[in-house]
Amino acid sequence: MSTTTAQESLWWAGGAMAPYPVLEGARRTDVVVIGGGIAGLTTALLLRRRGLDVAVVEAVAVGSGASGNNTAKVTALQSTMYTAVESKHGKAAAAAYARAAVEGVELVARLADEVGCEVERAPATTFAFTRGERQAVEDEFEAAARAGLPVEWTEELDLPFETFGAARLPDQVLLHPARYVRGLATALTAEGGEVFEGSRVTGVSVTSPYTVRTAGGEITADQVVVATHYPLLDRGLFFARLEAERSYCVAARLRSGTPPRDLAISAGSPSWSFSRHDDLLIVGGRSHPAGERGVDEAHYTDLEDFARRHFDVETITHRWSAQDPKVYDMLPMVGSYLVGGSSLWVATGFNKWGLAMGSAAGALLADRVTGTASPHEDLFSPHRVSLRSSPTLVRQNAKVAADLIGDRLVAADVPDSGEIPLDEARVLSDGLGKKGVYRDPAGALHAVSLRCTHLGCLVRFNGAERSWDCPCHASRFDVDGAVLEGPAIKPLTPRDP
Ligand code: FES
Repeated sequence: MSTTTAQESLWWAGGAMAPYPVLEGARRTDVVVIGGGIAGLTTALLLRRRGLDVAVVEAVAVGSGASGNNTAKVTALQSTMYTAVESKHGKAAAAAYARAAVEGVELVARLADEVGCEVERAPATTFAFTRGERQAVEDEFEAAARAGLPVEWTEELDLPFETFGAARLPDQVLLHPARYVRGLATALTAEGGEVFEGSRVTGVSVTSPYTVRTAGGEITADQVVVATHYPLLDRGLFFARLEAERSYCVAARLRSGTPPRDLAISAGSPSWSFSRHDDLLIVGGRSHPAGERGVDEAHYTDLEDFARRHFDVETITHRWSAQDPKVYDMLPMVGSYLVGGSSLWVATGFNKWGLAMGSAAGALLADRVTGTASPHEDLFSPHRVSLRSSPTLVRQNAKVAADLIGDRLVAADVPDSGEIPLDEARVLSDGLGKKGVYRDPAGALHAVSLRCTHLGCLVRFNGAERSWDCPCHASRFDVDGAVLEGPAIKPLTPRDP
């Protein structure tokens, strides 16, 4: 998993930590976990503690994906999640989701304590930013209460603008997510597990024992957990049930006043999310479907303007972004990768609440891999059929089909690369078809084929992150075509600028 941004994340400020080795040669273990984020490392650590030999294989660096690029909130109150889950799956499912979410939050608190990562308890709130959002917040308050969460209603929030009521859940968790993920990896290796970084998986054999291959080596294992955020193997067709959204964060130092205590998020769209670290305010939002056209700096500057409008901002200190796969029926997919079961496992679809739900997924998978029943395995089964949500699924895949065909009909932006301004990209055409050309701030050109190496949609330039993003299943590539995020595993073909 990876999220390389053109910006600096607050959670990665201060430089990289000592890397784990690259996978080389051939090895054997009981379980390979692909993906060094929250879900993967939680699974790996819990499995190691049950006596299994475990290796984690991470494409870039531990926590470099969404696990280390977020608002740091670990909470069971998740925007309007209980309204959505109850309407799609019923009251019992919403209550089961709440139990899993609370277990995820408490697991993080316990493991963070064990790995020496400081946590703070704080209330989480879903609030109405406009009068029109109040009904949605009231609905969420009632749905969360029916699901068994001890929510309170409040009209008072320590936000410096008018709000219109909020559901509040006390005692949630705030931590430094990159430190936490790194702490999980440290604990895993200290307890006899292995972690490899800079080791992008290029393939997994079809039957057990599985061979997991990277460019430099391979590991054979009886069981494999795919925890790459967006599953990298096409054999489960997960890409057809997930829709990735990209979201942005800025951190600000305040001249006066303090960041709000509540871990707040507004219920409407656009949604505004507030968090903090030490004396820094964090504002998140400005989400859009991954691979959307026309993504540019405004996705950051809108957040900055919002922060300056409502807080006494001295300076913006950090910016970062990440993308998250949303599931068509709002429930994470955690369990067997294939219909009928196997020793290939998956965890995905945390709908932007991966610190809590990725941890819950880790606990679930640790049970499943060791042959123990999990109380949440049916709810989060990747192979459930959700008829009430099938229109969403149809719409998602219609959009992919439109993107696949529609972009081929769009004309080139400019006739030649001489017309591309510094730090911008344009689409050009030549005898080989369309190509994307980016001119970097020093004037050098970088050209790649626009054809995504996953299933062939045409990638689009993301001007906020200087990357080529695929609108179909959210693969991302850097300006020279290297894979930043899957499901693609091969780089874009280089082209002559
Ligand atoms: Fe599937 Fe690009 S990510 S076609």
